[in-house]
Parts: sequence; C-alpha cells; structure tokens
Amino acid sequence: MKRYVLIIVVVVIGVAFMGYMLGSIGTKKDEKALLNTAPVIKEKGIEARSDVWGESYPNQYDTWKMTSQSAKIEDMLEKYPQLVILWAGYGFSKDYNSPRGHAFALQSNRNTLRTGGPTGADNGPMPMACWACKSSDVPRLMAKEGKNEFFTGKWARAGSEIVNPIGCADCHNTQTSQLEISRPYLTRALEASGVELDKITYQEMRSLACAQCHVEYYFRPTPYSNQDGESKTAAVVTLPWAKGLTAEAMEEYYDEYGFSDWTHSLSDTPLLKAQHPGYEMFVTGIHYKRGLSCADCHLPYTQKGSIKFSTHHIQSPLDDIANSCLTCHRQSEEEFRNIVKEKLKRKDQLHVIAMNSLATAHLNAKKAWEIGATEEEMEPVLQMIRSGQWLWDFSIASHGSFFHAPEETLRLLAVANEKAQQANLMLTGVLAAHDVLNYQVPDFSTKEKAQALAGVDLPMLIEEKLEFKNGLMKLWLEEAVREERLTNKFLDTLPDNASYPQ
Ligand code: HEC
Ligand code: HEC
Ligand code: HEC
Ligand code: HEC
Repeated sequence: MKRYVLIIVVVVIGVAFMGYMLGSIGTKKDEKALLNTAPVIKEKGIEARSDVWGESYPNQYDTWKMTSQSAKIEDMLEKYPQLVILWAGYGFSKDYNSPRGHAFALQSNRNTLRTGGPTGADNGPMPMACWACKSSDVPRLMAKEGKNEFFTGKWARAGSEIVNPIGCADCHNTQTSQLEISRPYLTRALEASGVELDKITYQEMRSLACAQCHVEYYFRPTPYSNQDGESKTAAVVTLPWAKGLTAEAMEEYYDEYGFSDWTHSLSDTPLLKAQHPGYEMFVTGIHYKRGLSCADCHLPYTQKGSIKFSTHHIQSPLDDIANSCLTCHRQSEEEFRNIVKEKLKRKDQLHVIAMNSLATAHLNAKKAWEIGATEEEMEPVLQMIRSGQWLWDFSIASHGSFFHAPEETLRLLAVANEKAQQANLMLTGVLAAHDVLNYQVPDFSTKEKAQALAGVDLPMLIEEKLEFKNGLMKLWLEEAVREERLTNKFLDTLPDNASYPQ
C-alpha cells in the first residue's frame, strides 16, 4: 500500500512539474507569438515614440527604460590622453566618452562637444548623418523626406524632428511588430557583400538588429536631384563591406576609393576613423561561430511571474551573468567575471602600447615637416601611420571586441603597433637626414597637455555648447512637444551628464 502512495506522489509531482515546464515553454511561445498576432501600434507609417509602444508591450518597455541606469560618463580623453594626439584636427580630440545606455543616445549626441553649438539650421560642424544611429525618429524622418534628402544638410536641420532616443521602431516594424531592418544602408551593405536577403534567418536577425548601428561606416558624398530638379549632394551613411568584413578588406576598400575622414593636423596624414565595428569583430569570434547572436547575451530571456520575455535592458552582460552566460556555461558568476576581466587586461596592455607608438609617430612626423622633410620622404611614412592607426582603431572602437573576438583584437593591436614602430624607425632616418638626432617628442601625458598640443580650445567649445543648450536646443524640444513628436515624460527624468562642468 505504502509503495503505491509513494509512486502516486512521485507521479503527481512529476506530472505537475512537466505541466509547469510545458506551461513555461507555452508562455514563452505566447510571448514570442506576440510578434505574430501583434497589436497594430499604428495603421500606417512608423511610430517613433516608444512610450506609445509601451501601452501594448509593458514588459519590453519597462526593461527598455532600465537602460537609463547606465548613466555614468567616463571621459576617455582623461583616461587615455594619447587619443587626443591620435585624433588631432578631428572632432574626437575635443570630447570622447565611453558608451552609456540606449536611453541616453540623443542626450550624448547633443551634449558632446563634437556636435558643437549651432545657432540655426544651417550651421555647426556636423552633417545630418550624425543622427543616423541615435534615434527611432531616423527611420520615420527618412520615410517622410526620402533617403537622400534625409542625408542632406547640417545636423542642426533636424533638431526638432529627432527627439526620441533608440527605441522600438529602430528594430521592429510598426504594423507587424516583427524584427525588421529599419536602416536601408545595412540592407544595401548586406547585398553588396553577397548576402541573399530572403535567406536571412531569424537567429541572424537577432544580430542584424544591432548591426544597424554597431558597425563600421562612412559618409559617402552622393549627388542627386531633388523634387524641384535641383542638384544636391547627400552625405549618405555607407558600410564599406563590398570587399569583406575584416579590417584589411575595408582598408583596401577605402584605399581604392581614395577615402579619408580627415587630415591629421600635426602629421598631415590622411586618416580613417573607425566607427564601432562591433558586428564585424563579433563574427570573427567563437560565440558567433557557435551560432550565437547579440540578443543571446544582451537581450536574454527573463521571467516575470509566469511570463517569459526578452529583457530589453541592453547592458553589460556582466551585470546579469545568470541570464546571459549561465544558460549555457556552468561555472560560477565569480569565475566568469574574472575571465572577462583578464581578457580586458590583456587588451589594455597592447592597446596602450599601440597608442603610444602611434602618437609618437604623429609627433615625430610633425617635427620632420618642420625641419623641411620632403613629400617624397614623408609619403611612405604617412602611409604606414594611416594603416597602423586604422588597424588599432578598428580593433578597439566597438568596446566589447576584447571579449567578442579576443584573438582578432590582439592580432590587430600587434600589427598596428608594428606599423607604428616602423613609421617611427623611418622617421628617425628622415630626421637624421636633416641633422636632427635624438629628438624627444613633447609630453602628452595628460588631457590638458595633449589638447594644448592638438590646439583644442576647450573653454571656448564649452561656452559655445552651453549657449546652444540654453538656446536653440530648448526651442527644438519645445517644438517637438508642441507637435506631439515628443510625449515621453520618462525622458525628462534622465540625469543630464557630460564630460564638462555645466
Ligand atoms: C535594439 C533593437 C531593439 C529595440 C530597440 C527593441 N527591441 Fe524588441 N526585440 C529585439 C530583439 C532582438 C528581440 C528578440 C526576438 C526573439 O528572440 O524572439 C525582441 C523581442 C521583442 C518582442 C517579442 C517578445 C520577446 O520579449 O521576446 C516584443 C513584443 C518586443 N521586442 C517589443 C519591443 C518594444 C515594445 C520595444 C520598445 C520599448 C522594443 N521591442 C525595442 C530588438 C529590439
Ligand atoms: C539605432 C542605433 C542602435 C541600435 C539599433 C543598437 N544600438 Fe547599441 N548603442 C547605440 C549607441 C549610439 C550607443 C551609445 C549610447 C550613448 O553612449 O549615449 C549604444 C550603446 C550600446 C551598449 C552600451 C550600453 C551601456 O550601458 O554601456 C550596448 C551593450 C549596446 N549598445 C548593445 C546593442 C545591442 C545588443 C543591440 C541590438 C539588440 C544594439 N545595441 C542596437 C546605437 C544602437
Ligand atoms: C557571448 C555573449 C555575447 C554576445 C553574443 C555579444 N556580446 Fe556584446 N558583450 C559581451 C560581454 C561579456 C561584454 C563586456 C562587458 C563589459 O566589459 O562589462 C560585451 C560588451 C559589449 C559592448 C560594449 C559595452 C560597453 O559599455 O563597453 C557592446 C556595444 C556590445 N557588447 C554589443 C554587442 C553586439 C552588437 C553584439 C552582436 C554583434 C554582441 N555584443 C554580442 C557579451 C556578448
Ligand atoms: C547560447 C549559449 C552561450 C551563451 C549564452 C554564452 N556562451 Fe560562452 N560559449 C558558448 C560556446 C558554444 C562556446 C564555444 C565552446 C567550444 O566550442 O569549445 C563558448 C565559449 C566561451 C568562452 C571560451 C572562448 C573564449 O573566447 O575565450 C568563454 C570565455 C565564454 N564562452 C564566456 C561567456 C560569457 C562571459 C558569456 C556571457 C556574457 C557567455 N559565454 C555566454 C556558448 C555560450
């Protein structure tokens, strides 16, 4: 008798457990099915306001808002003053911070000294393209204005239109809620690199949603005729993928096209600035090769009551190791944190060595020009600096590469350093040929010293920025609220952080 009771108890527990498991798979499916039987957020067009989406999808919206927890600014120029020398003559030598949560994308873009202090729609240093990866209003405005028209004119032209930070409409279709590529430049790049668009799998979409922004790109001057038949030139965001996704393939692409982002103000080198080739670096790593996508670690499934959904709190996976890593791996959280930390340390060591070598090369080259080096003497040197700096920047600019693709990151840093050292060796020769021996480059060990060498007038830039923030920027946001493009009260609660005192 007792045996039967025991068996019945075991069976009941077993059935209950299976029921629970099936139920939880069921709810996971249900929630995923939301994408299929989705509420229509808007009958036509693109709904850029994530707060409106939030009424239908509260779990995704509430976790999306949590990206505001990553609010801290880390001034990278303070941390690595070498960067100021490497980017002399270019916006990044003015202001460059580590990334924050998606909720801050627009604030960071308006606050950075790189976007300057425009006083009207037609001035300021930056083009429209600078909004491209910051806001769900970008696909909305692109649909309204046209693809070339959107990329025409100055950044300040659309200040009152681009007001919602990265949100639902960046990754989801407004009518079907399905994951969708909202940026035509990614679609074009995939085609250029030979991908058949109708063969893209769902798992790939869970990475391509991110590859809309976490990629390398440049602003390609593109002539076109507008509606009135006037000739215009757009600066269109373009991904240099036609020859492949590696740093070397893109370097060849840029060299062939004869492209440079700017000419260095100290060494006169025509240089490339890597943006954030996160996707391209990721695909060289083991997790991609084992079939993972960005969403597996950065939007892992999470549980709230009986509901399973993808957390939209995109952040460092180290802040949620249990859901991000331990779904596949079996070690302790502590061990994982240490593994990642060690990878970061290895990268940082080579990173600093490469930056010092490159910065020294720029300053040596400046000296060489000053003492009368010829174009002929300098040409091979500048070519070497250009290549070395590109490989260095490509390896680290996406921030996570030390983990996503450790081998590729360290390989690129080693080659970058080798090229910088070769440039320095050649420069020692050039200087000696002009009777300069044992030249010591000036001290660039603090942000202040480095910015003085690079000719950055920080107080002037800050003053200009604060005038903009108290003037034109306020008008932009007032207009957007009036015209109901900006309805999200949550955005008013974000702390207003910048690298400078305000
Ligand atoms: C940066 C891209 C991105 C943004 C921004 C984004 N999502 Fe998602 N969303 C994803 C990805 C990736 C998935 C995972 C799809 C899967 O695994 O089935 C997803 C899944 C979903 C799902 C399916 C159910 C689930 O949780 O897996 C819903 C519903 C959803 N998102 C709603 C939203 C809403 C609402 C917003 C805005 C508040 C939003 N998303 C913003 C990328 C994004
Ligand atoms: C529309 C452009 C865009 C898309 C799409 C996008 N990102 Fe981002 N991402 C950004 C920008 C811009 C920042 C930096 C924001 C800042 O510093 O203000 C950022 C920051 C981040 C950060 C740093 C967050 C932190 O707290 O430090 C992570 C991680 C990240 N993104 C991952 C992803 C993943 C994963 C996806 C795809 C699911 C994705 N992003 C899709 C533009 C985008
Ligand atoms: C196997 C898990 C995993 C996958 C898959 C993954 N990441 Fe990451 N990602 C990480 C880890 C771990 C870090 C390092 C976090 C840290 O240093 O705090 C990171 C860092 C980042 C950062 C830098 C965050 C910062 O604040 O510095 C970005 C941006 C990012 N990942 C985007 C992506 C994108 C885009 C993809 C897909 C192309 C992707 N990740 C795929 C685990 C992953
Ligand atoms: C969906 C499953 C999955 C998730 C989630 C996942 N991994 Fe992995 N990880 C793998 C696989 C598969 C490999 C390759 C193992 C092999 O082939 O030997 C791997 C390899 C690794 C390795 C060894 C390779 C290397 O680059 O050093 C480390 C370290 C690692 N993962 C850390 C992490 C961390 C940290 C996270 C969370 C941020 C994470 N993984 C999330 C599946 C996963």
